[in-house]
Amino acid sequence: MTREDPGRTVPPTGPEAPPDTAPGGGPAPPRAPEGDALSCHGLRYAFGETRAVDGVDLAVRPGEVFGLLGPNGAGKTTAIRCITTLLPVPAGMVRVFGHDAARERMAVRRLLGYVPQQLSADAGLTGRENVALFARVFDVPRRERAARVDQALRAVHLTDAANRLAKTYSGGMIRRLELAQALVSAPRLLMLDEPTIGLDPIARTSVWEHINAVRAATGMTVLVTTHYMDEAEQYCDRVALMHRGRIRALGTPAELRSALRTRWARAASGDSAPSPLPTTPAPSSDAEPTLEDVFRDVAGTGLDEQSGDFRDVRSTRRTAARVG
Ligand SMILES: Nc1ncnc2c1ncn2[C@@H]1O[C@H](COP(=O)(O)OP(=O)(O)O)[C@@H](O)[C@H]1O
Ligand SMILES: [Mg+2]
Repeated sequence: MTREDPGRTVPPTGPEAPPDTAPGGGPAPPRAPEGDALSCHGLRYAFGETRAVDGVDLAVRPGEVFGLLGPNGAGKTTAIRCITTLLPVPAGMVRVFGHDAARERMAVRRLLGYVPQQLSADAGLTGRENVALFARVFDVPRRERAARVDQALRAVHLTDAANRLAKTYSGGMIRRLELAQALVSAPRLLMLDEPTIGLDPIARTSVWEHINAVRAATGMTVLVTTHYMDEAEQYCDRVALMHRGRIRALGTPAELRSALRTRWARAASGDSAPSPLPTTPAPSSDAEPTLEDVFRDVAGTGLDEQSGDFRDVRSTRRTAARVG
């Protein structure tokens, strides 16, 4: 179990918990079919003087893959931990399928699967034992547990390795095992915090293929953080670019690129409207902007130098070292 997220181990059995998921392990029918899977309004969270999340508004639609992008220190993990109820919501409002994360914590936890940034698999247990542990913690009904554990392991192609100790797994297998842990409770909203950090390109693709296969089968909504813009471009329906605790831009990758192309063209023709945001110069008049260009445009230059700190570097290295 992860050191960072003690709340992950609390069984979701509060008085306000909704009825069990549908028989057979499928997601329960939605309570508010036309509502958002997730909405945040004015979400803030500070560690002392550090305003890690500084007024975040976003809405994730049911069934979409939503990317929360940003450099180290942007506030992505803190926002995720507020949404998963592992941190309180001191200011603003977070709702998961209509449930208030501050007041209905257990109901929210029942709807979520969470793969934390720091590794959560126990190296001394087998793959199957790791998933079974999460099935217990997440209150999967006892009579369904064995089948659901098998189903989750199968979904990430770990059936053959299920009885091996996790410490013998490759980095990509560990991340897939964590995905199985998060999937065993049949979540309607899967939260993935840097699921592919430290993995080689083949293992990264494999993690995404498994996420997408489960999505296609269940209609699950996915919120993923990453600082790999190429992944966002390829796999996310919409993205929010976060920098210093705030959302700086939000839309489909194509919309964001197209808006930047327009700003570049305006700047080139000399009629750029006054803007509070620094506009980066176009490399050449017919250049096609990338998502990374969009990020540099909305967040300014010097992303790598200005953001993140020792904590980020240390935790990123730890995760990367263990999966690498
Ligand atoms: N437990 C903590 N104590 C103090 N500061 C923290 C803690 N966790 C994160 N921070 C700070 O909050 C800010 C946002 O961090 P984080 O949410 O981890 O960003 P990201 O996930 O985008 O890298 C950073 O400045 C970070 O140093
Ligand atoms: Mg993070």
